[in-house]
Amino acid sequence: MYLKVPVHDLQIGMYVVNTGLSRSDDPNLYSVEGLITSEAEIRAIKADGYQEVIIDMDRTMVRLHASVGQSEDSSHTFPTTGIFAACGMSGQNQTSLFEELPQAEKALGEMLCFVREFTRDIRLGKQIDVIASGAIVEGVVDSVSRNSQAMLGLCKLRSFDEYTYTHSLNVSVLAVVYGKCLGLPREQLRELGLAGMFHDVGKTAVPEQILNKPGKLTHDEFEIMKTHPAKGRAMLFRIGDLSREILDGVLHHHERHNGKGYPNGLTGSQLGLFPRIIGMVDVYDALTSRRCYKLGMIPNKALSLMFGLRGEDFEAGHLDRFIKCLGIYPLGSFVRLDNGLRGFVVETVDNSPLRPKVKLFFDNAMRKITPKELDLSDYTTPAIIECLDPARFDINPADYVFTT
Ligand SMILES: [Fe+2]
Repeated sequence: MYLKVPVHDLQIGMYVVNTGLSRSDDPNLYSVEGLITSEAEIRAIKADGYQEVIIDMDRTMVRLHASVGQSEDSSHTFPTTGIFAACGMSGQNQTSLFEELPQAEKALGEMLCFVREFTRDIRLGKQIDVIASGAIVEGVVDSVSRNSQAMLGLCKLRSFDEYTYTHSLNVSVLAVVYGKCLGLPREQLRELGLAGMFHDVGKTAVPEQILNKPGKLTHDEFEIMKTHPAKGRAMLFRIGDLSREILDGVLHHHERHNGKGYPNGLTGSQLGLFPRIIGMVDVYDALTSRRCYKLGMIPNKALSLMFGLRGEDFEAGHLDRFIKCLGIYPLGSFVRLDNGLRGFVVETVDNSPLRPKVKLFFDNAMRKITPKELDLSDYTTPAIIECLDPARFDINPADYVFTT
């Protein structure tokens, strides 16, 4: 379990997590991974101006005071039973995962080319081709409408390179997938996909040395970074033809439910649907993406961390629905069953978020076994007892999830 802790509550023995969020988006979050071992270290973190850290309770070696990390909303224990029992949010798939994979791959490939092109064009002062962008996102909406798992699996399990481009693509896909779970109409899904694809376009106007700075941003540098949503909105507004919802989604994707976001510090009900969705999926993708300076967090842990910010950074209802939509164990999760066997979640099952379909590849000693698919929702045993990090075993989920 993860907990957000103010730096004045930092203690020796706390284990700090590198979320990958701090460098550009939140300079107040200290995230050099490891155990806090001295008072001098804590003093240095405070002196550098950091305000918060995320700690991993499982690796923290000190008993916390009752008040540490507690907010008004105390329901921060990530659910493993109960409240998500009745899901059924994503509806019936029209195609199977494997039938949909080629079409999803084609749509994603086209979108990646388009994102690369418009990023380059904007830097050269050229206009974005709005008509082409609509057609590109239509391809994603079509695929997600038929079977969202194929698109979701491809973008989250294969996108290890080119973070700048794949992040825009992933945010677009995640927003469309979540929008489908909410039952939004097709036209709104298309607009949501566009908002996701364009959400960080304003970063093209932020100097590279700030965007790629390895250390903490200075106050002035962060002030420049904070202009990217407004710059993005202005670029898109000048093009015309994009709806107010899309522009709002871009402008407010760094606002937070508790009002601690930017650029306007909007709170709760002041935030429209698009900013809430884009802001939430943006964080999920940043947490779970592999970057040059960190491994991606496993999906289950990322959702657990976000659940720790429920009612603070994220509105509780939307976060709950997002977790329902992805499943407690999202597609590609590497899991260990109580019979010792290990494998990957290959399909989430509506109405049974704790018992997805898994494909088993390893025994308890990580020796390969004859692959065996098991729909856990058909049985009462075995059960998933933990999520493992495939990076620890030097295996790539994509090599297993997409095998027939
Ligand atoms: Fe952003």
